[in-house]
Amino acid sequence: MENLRIPGPTPCPSDVLQAMSRQMINHRGPEFGEILNDITDKLKQLFQTKGDVFLLTGSGTGGLEAAIVNTLSPGDKVLSVTIGVFGERFGTIAEEFGAEVIPLSFEWGKAADAETIRQALHAEPGTKAVLVTHNETSTGVTNDLASISSVVKEFDKLLLVDAISSLGSINLPVDDWHCDVTVTGSQKGWMVPPGLAMVSLSQEAWQAYSEAKMPRFYWDFTKAKSYLEKGQTPWTPAISTVFALSISLEMILREGLANVIARHARVAKAAQDGIKSLGLSLFAEESHASNTVTSVAASDGLDTKKLLRILREEHQVVLGGGQQRLDGKIFRIGHLGWVTEDDIEAVISALKVALPQAGFRRAS
Ligand SMILES: Cc1ncc(COP(=O)(O)O)c(C=O)c1O
Repeated sequence: MENLRIPGPTPCPSDVLQAMSRQMINHRGPEFGEILNDITDKLKQLFQTKGDVFLLTGSGTGGLEAAIVNTLSPGDKVLSVTIGVFGERFGTIAEEFGAEVIPLSFEWGKAADAETIRQALHAEPGTKAVLVTHNETSTGVTNDLASISSVVKEFDKLLLVDAISSLGSINLPVDDWHCDVTVTGSQKGWMVPPGLAMVSLSQEAWQAYSEAKMPRFYWDFTKAKSYLEKGQTPWTPAISTVFALSISLEMILREGLANVIARHARVAKAAQDGIKSLGLSLFAEESHASNTVTSVAASDGLDTKKLLRILREEHQVVLGGGQQRLDGKIFRIGHLGWVTEDDIEAVISALKVALPQAGFRRAS
């Protein structure tokens, strides 16, 4: 079996996969209603929220679009805090739907600075919302969301959070950190195949909804809410993936959220230490290096494409490359969801053999 270590889709435990082989059920019937209600309760615990949580059929990007179209109107000013590919995507979605996007970009590999966000909000008092990526998967950096949130709330703005590769793996107390819409995706730390986005909403988000005029249909949150009250989703859900999520949430709660978060921190430390022991450097600034994905700078002659091919063909280890302008400049080890230190040890052992074959000459 491959050691799939990309930052999503992530490997799924066999009980989760088996759940997907179940026969279909009526998505408007009582059994589905029970499963949906149970999943919603469990997600609220894991989002650490008393607000609404909806299960949407779609990928994470669909969840990001839902966050925007349900809370904003064309012409609204939006501060888009970006530290990588996914932050840029969040801003692009807002722009496509007619928001006036004010980009606030930080150097890739670094975290966003709360003080700079404060200055930006001070300079643009008419800003309606701030878009932030909690964990930037493309660079392996986790933003200090608690500090960013306190600045955003100092100015009483809406906070829309892409937590696709952090929620359920890195601590994110949605209510304590005043996140108005928070989005995650099933194929990340949730140990479930792709196909579902999960989103939470605060009271302030509902207030924004009541004024929001962006066009929406499939993602409309009032439809999601009114159907959830009947134990349904507005549209046909990805039922097999819902079965899978129901099992994975049980597993996560059995392990305990705090333990899951601590395991991710341990595994990330093992990845970071292992990388350094090989003479490589982290791409991310170390103080904000992610607990779900480790990005590694290509240096000293390393051909990342060759490296990834050797790892895949000769070691059955699958790692991620760099995206967009980081193509060929970094590689990434995903360690979220169903992962232990042993999986990372196997990656480091394979890297030890493959690195010299891929041109890496350790600087002495
Ligand atoms: C932080 C982040 N945002 C957004 C996305 C996009 O999610 P999806 O590919 O499920 O649409 C990803 C997926 O890698 C991600 O890691």
